[in-house]
Amino acid sequence: MPPSFPVLQPESPEAQAMYDLLLSVLGISAIIFAIVTGLIWRAIVVGRKRVDLPEQEFGSERKEIFWMIGPTIIVLWIFAISAKLILTMNAIPQVDPPADQIADAELHVTGHQWWWEIRYGDSKWMAANEIHIPTGKKIRVKLTSADVIHCFWVPQLARKIDVIPGRENYIWLEAAKPGVYQGRCAEFCGNQHAWMNFQVFALDPADYSQWLAGAGTAATKPTATDAVAGEKIFFTQTCVNCHTIQGTAAVATIGPDLTHVASRDTLGGGAIKNSPDNLHRWLKNPQAIKPGCKMPDFKLTDEHVQQLVAYLESIN
Ligand code: CUA
Repeated sequence: MPPSFPVLQPESPEAQAMYDLLLSVLGISAIIFAIVTGLIWRAIVVGRKRVDLPEQEFGSERKEIFWMIGPTIIVLWIFAISAKLILTMNAIPQVDPPADQIADAELHVTGHQWWWEIRYGDSKWMAANEIHIPTGKKIRVKLTSADVIHCFWVPQLARKIDVIPGRENYIWLEAAKPGVYQGRCAEFCGNQHAWMNFQVFALDPADYSQWLAGAGTAATKPTATDAVAGEKIFFTQTCVNCHTIQGTAAVATIGPDLTHVASRDTLGGGAIKNSPDNLHRWLKNPQAIKPGCKMPDFKLTDEHVQQLVAYLESIN
């Protein structure tokens, strides 16, 4: 079961502005709805009791003008407040806020079928499906796609933005307070579109710096017997052809970087919680958990899978 996905609990100034717009439009719609249903109700209930037929009205210039101008003003007002918000949000990536409000690293997020690649600034290392940001600062996110159109959506923090092959799109991510914010791919992108989830971890700036320092570190060398055996399998079977492990000869970028895979919250873009047992299930046959994903079933023996798990858990 994926975690709950709150779309109406804004936790950033941008999400709050969208929420306020929604409430304004909903409010005025509710008032109009109440007036119209009230008039219908009155016509039915009161009209039924009347024995004399009401006098027919054949056109009233004043009423015609009133119900032409009234709705026009309402529609123009909704248009104006929506356009103002859209223009503000679109302008954000081009207009830099004061330097002390921006986080140092720009995020580069790439959509893949069906996971998210996350890079910080010019760093060589890559995270997958988990984005860490400092609270109280704006972080610029550059979005590109490796294959088809995806859509990046963290409703508590920012608007949706399409992720399009051959194009760079930008948004700012900002969280007012520490927490974990759920993200989804919001554009149908193939049969595992539903398992292309991600999470944004907003940390206090001090915690963020600490996390950032640890995130780029190279893998530790395994020492336990089964972990060493797992390392051998990793580099002699096909794992090395698609994945990177920092500080080793594995540098492929087709699949996620596995250096710190053991510290992640989920596997397979949110398909299962991350634990040694679930990592075992995943490596044993990813297709059973996420049919159609790019990682094939390598038909590894239980013993080999167990050694691989020992290796991946030990290098973290
Ligand atoms: Cu990626 Cu839907």
